[in-house]
Amino acid sequence: MTRQDQSVTAERTLILAPRGRDAMLAQSILQEADLRADICAGFQDLVEGIKAGCELAIVTEEAFRGAEMRTLVDWVRAQPAWSDFPFIVLTEHGGGVERNPLASQLTDALGSVSFLERPFHPTTLISVVRTHLRGRRRQYECRRLNEELEFRVQERTQELAAANRQLLAQMEERERVESTLRQMQRLEAVGQLTSGVAHDFNNLLTVVLGNVSFMEKDFAARGIDGKLSQRLHFMRSAAERGAKLTDQLLSFSRRQRLEPKVLDLNHTIAGMRDLLQSTMGGSIRIETSLAENLWHALVDPTQLELAVLNLAINARDAMDVGGLLTVSTHNATLGEAAAPEEPVAGDYVEVCVSDTGSGMSANVRARVFEPFFTTKEVGKGSGLGLSQVLGFAKQSNGGVRIDTTEGEGTSIRIFLPRSDLAEERPDTGAEDFGDDPDLPARILVVDDDDAVRQVVADMLRELRYDVLESGSAGAAFDVLESKEPVDLLLLDFAMPGMSGAEVARRVRRRYPRLPILFVTGYADRTLLNGIDEAQTLGKPFQLHDLASKIAQALNRRPAEAPPARNEHPRSAV
Ligand SMILES: Nc1ncnc2c1ncn2[C@@H]1O[C@H](COP(=O)(O)OP(=O)(O)OP(=O)(O)O)[C@@H](O)[C@H]1O
Ligand SMILES: [Mg+2]
Repeated sequence: MTRQDQSVTAERTLILAPRGRDAMLAQSILQEADLRADICAGFQDLVEGIKAGCELAIVTEEAFRGAEMRTLVDWVRAQPAWSDFPFIVLTEHGGGVERNPLASQLTDALGSVSFLERPFHPTTLISVVRTHLRGRRRQYECRRLNEELEFRVQERTQELAAANRQLLAQMEERERVESTLRQMQRLEAVGQLTSGVAHDFNNLLTVVLGNVSFMEKDFAARGIDGKLSQRLHFMRSAAERGAKLTDQLLSFSRRQRLEPKVLDLNHTIAGMRDLLQSTMGGSIRIETSLAENLWHALVDPTQLELAVLNLAINARDAMDVGGLLTVSTHNATLGEAAAPEEPVAGDYVEVCVSDTGSGMSANVRARVFEPFFTTKEVGKGSGLGLSQVLGFAKQSNGGVRIDTTEGEGTSIRIFLPRSDLAEERPDTGAEDFGDDPDLPARILVVDDDDAVRQVVADMLRELRYDVLESGSAGAAFDVLESKEPVDLLLLDFAMPGMSGAEVARRVRRRYPRLPILFVTGYADRTLLNGIDEAQTLGKPFQLHDLASKIAQALNRRPAEAPPARNEHPRSAV
């Protein structure tokens, strides 16, 4: 059987002809022609049959008289757009349609109605039925096409919506990346600027602090006290505050010199309790929560303590009516960074400082890492605390995350890279270099800044060293080449022309045993790579820093060392 045949057999015609043998007759004519026809018992039966599903209804005219048509008419009106259900009405013999008022009423009420006058010839009935069935089949086809079209439209709409969503997501992602990039570029530019400023300031502060030291000594020697020495004291405090600021600037610009060590941060935080207690004051409770089995972190302990202290001070300032400060440690495995201050995905040791203070508004939150951004009154905050924290964390290959809710509090997390190595016990710094009074060492000071060189030279003379000075690398080589005996080279790291690192390389090639102490105001990490902390002295420095570094550098030389290569016996110490 073909598909077409199948659908034909499934088609059903309903017959309602309550009077006489009309119904049976019509049914048998149709069955003869292989058309399925079912006889309905009454009008209600017809309506239910139509609702249940059939293709055509044959109804005698008299069956409509007195029938309750409402349900049928409602059904006809409610047909979907593709459907126009056909009726064949068998009229009385001689009752012409034009003169029959029922005929026009039926057409109005039922729509697709055709009239067939009785008696009819069997072939006429069959052909009329077949025509209507074909018409109905067309309607079904129309429905199928319509549904297919709707399905396709829906499918396409979904595809378009998906493409649209993807496009929006891509635009958002691009926006996010661009804004991260912009922010990074801005921070980088500010970093470059600040490191330049810090470099110059360190030179100035070296001169100021150096001269203040001399004046203090001078005053003490002459017994000058009172107002003048008080003024001097103010100068020293101001210069020292300036030195702290430049330090923070360098840390923000990620150009400070870090001395990372493998640490158990639980020890570091536990060791800070007293310091925190004294910084917080009475109205703030402090809790520490230290994670068990905390991974080791690779980090500079001094800078970490400074960062935690900065966070704690911020927390204190945000809790002016008292509150709770919690410092906790955690192991943290992070996914992709959600903000530029966060670290890249990986394993980190987290130090979290939480407060129950004022929290931050969205505007403040967006700007906290900018250097000099502060909401504190003049003189209370310089706006460098969080810049230091971020600069230090980033330079340590970690990052920072801020969670804050206005009126509830703030948590700031510092993430530091995990290390699988064993903890290095922090330096006790107890090594005593002593000031050997009969060490008549000669030191060559190389610095292009006259004022700095002079004050350093004066400080060295104060320490009773023999001092030679050079304003450039070339001049320094001339001194070394001349038969002047030199025991130590004190070398400015950042000099125009030939940098301190290059001068050092050349000196080492010629005089491998001559110790070099670098003076750095601006320490570029990469340039300083491989240089021991003991061989560097950060500007600005105090007399005692200089004394201990020099002593350390001179003592380091092995006693059995052969003469330095400027061939002078003094260099052979
Ligand atoms: N825990 C906190 N709760 C609420 N606001 C904070 C918190 N930490 C920082 N802030 C806001 O961020 C600003 C910048 O902080 P940052 O530490 O960089 O500078 P500062 O504290 O103002 O000054 P400085 O730390 O240099 O003395 C603060 O002025 C404050 O508005
Ligand atoms: Mg601060």
